[in-house]
Amino acid sequence: MAQQHDIFSTLKQDHDKHRALLARIDRTHSEDEERIELFSQFTLEAKAHAAAEEQALYSTVMRKPKLTSEVRHSVSEHHEVEEMLNDLASTDSGSDEWLTKFREMQHRYLHHIEEEEEEHFPDFAECLTPEDQAYMDSVFQKRKPVEKDKAEVTPEKMEDAKE
Ligand SMILES: [Fe+2]
Ligand SMILES: [Fe+2]
Repeated sequence: MAQQHDIFSTLKQDHDKHRALLARIDRTHSEDEERIELFSQFTLEAKAHAAAEEQALYSTVMRKPKLTSEVRHSVSEHHEVEEMLNDLASTDSGSDEWLTKFREMQHRYLHHIEEEEEEHFPDFAECLTPEDQAYMDSVFQKRKPVEKDKAEVTPEKMEDAKE
């Protein structure tokens, strides 16, 4: 039976919040003040989620040789999404360019969380005891608010990030 507090259900709940937030941003118009506000909220959420997820879950499963490459793949997607968020923050939010870039980022992020839920998490769960999963949940719950306090919107053009 599923536990009430395991890391995977907590992460999925966060993912669902992110899906809802992305859908709201997608419905905004170029002149809406709300677009910038919601985008900032999403940026802080996604950055804090990724950092706490790496600290609570990925750091441990990375040590398991058969999971190393899956973890590496997922962490590199965190980095890629962060660069896309920074690039968006440096783009005029009322422009068509912003919307195009937002939709690319959204597509990338939705792919990332779906892959976590459908492929990575089931593989990780096989290697973790229920106690591990409960402990990781407590680490995530502790780290997420700390990371969220530290998180910032940091505008940086993609071409500068690659230098
Ligand atoms: Fe992730
Ligand atoms: Fe995640």
